[in-house]
Amino acid sequence: MADDGAKAVAGGELGRLPAWPRKPLNNSVIAAEQAHRKRSGLPLISDEDVEALKVGQQMSWERGDAPAAAPGAPVAAATPSAAPPAPAPAAPVASSATLSPAGAELMKGGFKWSKSSIAAEQARRKRNNLPALTDTDVALLLGEGPPAAAPIAPAAAAQAAARPAAPAAARPAAPMPTVSQVARTGTATKYVGTPAVGTSKAAAAGGVASTGMIGTEADINRRRLVWTGVVAFLATWLLAFFRFFLPRTLFEPSTVFKIGYASDFGLGVDTKFQQKFRIWVDRVPGRLFVIYAKCTHLGCTPDWKPSENKFKCPCHGSGYDSEGINFEGPAPRPMDRAHVELAPDGQVLVDVSRLYQWPKGQASHFDDQGAFLSV
Ligand code: FES
Repeated sequence: MADDGAKAVAGGELGRLPAWPRKPLNNSVIAAEQAHRKRSGLPLISDEDVEALKVGQQMSWERGDAPAAAPGAPVAAATPSAAPPAPAPAAPVASSATLSPAGAELMKGGFKWSKSSIAAEQARRKRNNLPALTDTDVALLLGEGPPAAAPIAPAAAAQAAARPAAPAAARPAAPMPTVSQVARTGTATKYVGTPAVGTSKAAAAGGVASTGMIGTEADINRRRLVWTGVVAFLATWLLAFFRFFLPRTLFEPSTVFKIGYASDFGLGVDTKFQQKFRIWVDRVPGRLFVIYAKCTHLGCTPDWKPSENKFKCPCHGSGYDSEGINFEGPAPRPMDRAHVELAPDGQVLVDVSRLYQWPKGQASHFDDQGAFLSV
C-alpha cells in the first residue's frame, strides 16, 4: 500500500467506490479499487483513507479535509499553498417545497420510504423513461422536509480554487454525488465488486441494500415464481389431506351371480363366463357344475383346448380333463368347483366364494350338496 501511495494522492476521486453513506469495506474491495485506479491512472487511495474505508467512515476529502497524501508521495500541485483557497460561502440550492406530480403520487401511497427504496424507485423511473424525483421529492419522502441549502465544504472550495492554478498537475476531481443525487439518478457511481442479489443498481451505488417496496422487474418475477411454488406446494398438500378422508375402496364384481337357466347349457364345457367371472360351466349327463378357472399349481388361468378336450395351463403345463381333473404337469389336485344352486326364479346361482375341493390324497368334495346341480 505504501508503494501504491507513493505514486499518487487520493483527492476527491471516488472511482468505483460507493458514495457516502456506505458500509465498511473489506480489504479485497479496497485492493480491487486500488488496482482499478492503478490501471486507469487515477490517484490511489491514501493509507488514511483506506483506514477510514475499513471502519466505514468518510474519507478525508469527503469530510471536507484537505486531500491526504500517502507517505512519500509527491504532493499534487493542487494544494492550498499553490493557490490559497478562498473560503466559499455555502451556495444556496434552489429548492421548492412543492412536490412534483410523481413525488405527490408516491407520497399518497403512505409507504415509509428509505434511501435505498428511493434509489430503487429512481432506477426504475430511469429504466422506464419516467421523470426522475426531484431533490424536494426525495427530501419530503424521507421526511426531512424541503432540502436546505447545501454548504460547499471549504476543502472542496479550495480544490476548486486550486484546480485552475495547476491544470497539468492536478487531475480534475470527479464531482461527489450526494445521497440525494445517488437516489435521484440511480447510476451516480459504478459498482464495487458484485452487487448483491436483490439490490438495485442505485442502491448498490449508495452502499445500501434495496429493501424498499419497489424492486426490479427481475425481483418481481422472482417473487412471483417463489410464491407460485409455495401456493402450488400448499395446494397439493391440501388436496392430499382431504383425499386422506375418502374411503379406499376396491370395486370388485360380486362373488354371487346368476348365469342363466340350466337348460341354456349343453353337454360339455361352456367358456362364455371365463372373462367376466373366471368360471367354466360344465355339463355332463345328469349334472351341471361350475369349475373355478384357477390352476391349482400356482394360480394361473388355464386355457380350454376343445380340440384336445382338455384344459392346459400356460404357465407350467399342467393338464386337466374336461371335468377339471388334473392328469399331467405339476398341478397337485383337480381344479376347484364353485357353489351352485337354483335361484327362486329358476336360474343357476353361482357363489365363487364357496369352493369345493378334492385335496390330494383326501376325500373328494365334488359330490357334496351345492357342488353340482342335478339336471
Ligand atoms: Fe398352472 Fe403352474 S400354474 S401349471
